[in-house]
Amino acid sequence: MTSAPLKKLNDGIQIPQIGLGVFQMTDDEAHRATLAAFEAGYRHVDTAAIYRNETGVGRAVAESGLSREEIFVTTKLWNKAHGKDNSRVAISRSLEKLGLDRVDLYLIHWPCPATGLYVETWEQLIDFRSEGLSRSIGVSNFLPDHLDTIVDETGITPAVNQIELHPTFQPDDLVNHCSDLGIVITSWSPLGAAADLEHPDIVTIAEAMGATAAQVIIRWHLQRGFVVIPKSTNPERIVANFAALDIELDSDQMEAIDAASADNRLGPDPATIEP
Ligand code: A2P
Repeated sequence: MTSAPLKKLNDGIQIPQIGLGVFQMTDDEAHRATLAAFEAGYRHVDTAAIYRNETGVGRAVAESGLSREEIFVTTKLWNKAHGKDNSRVAISRSLEKLGLDRVDLYLIHWPCPATGLYVETWEQLIDFRSEGLSRSIGVSNFLPDHLDTIVDETGITPAVNQIELHPTFQPDDLVNHCSDLGIVITSWSPLGAAADLEHPDIVTIAEAMGATAAQVIIRWHLQRGFVVIPKSTNPERIVANFAALDIELDSDQMEAIDAASADNRLGPDPATIEP
């Protein structure tokens, strides 16, 4: 069975470059989808406290028959849990629901600059890593000034910034800033919540390759060096998405998808999100 390439983070931890996203799944859907993904060869699952499906993901990890070391589990601290005391309660609850002693990657879900607690929260994540509650730590939806602030204040650079990124939303300045800091990007909504599957240039490339549009987009993320977490509840699509590992885009095809960039943001703006 093909296995996902591993990408080395700035702390030496290796992350499988494809994971299953479980946003908007119920516990039962996340349980079924995660088991289907493990069956298909995925070894990385990405959840969050706010998804309210960590229990389902944890059940799948426990039932998978895989050893804990083979599986990479990411979860995220929700906006209302910023700050010293709240963040400790948050990671304890997530670990309890997942049924794990530690996660592989723990992320601050949004910077919530209006709350003014993301530096204090980042300091807590640094402690959580030292205590072995998470092997690696990072952030999500952080803009360049948020990244610079936590690095300047603590001297510790996040391993990952998980951001909205898909063919019709490519925040190049942020991507370049992360690259300059040695931060690996994980793309969320990598398919543009399925809307980018209809993009005419992507459809043309997919037809020419005998691949699906989703495989073409996932392959584009991989070749750009991003970690990618396509979400699907459908076992056939879970399998097909993983087979993006088996295709290769040439430079013209990569450039055509680079050129699909537009301003199709789907999620909130990190600068103004409220907790
Ligand atoms: P489904 O769960 O029914 O497969 P994103 O990861 O960008 O947020 O996109 C997720 C959406 O894309 C979900 O609605 C999911 O629906 C759909 N999706 C995932 N993989 C595929 C695929 N291979 N073909 C079509 N739709 C897909």
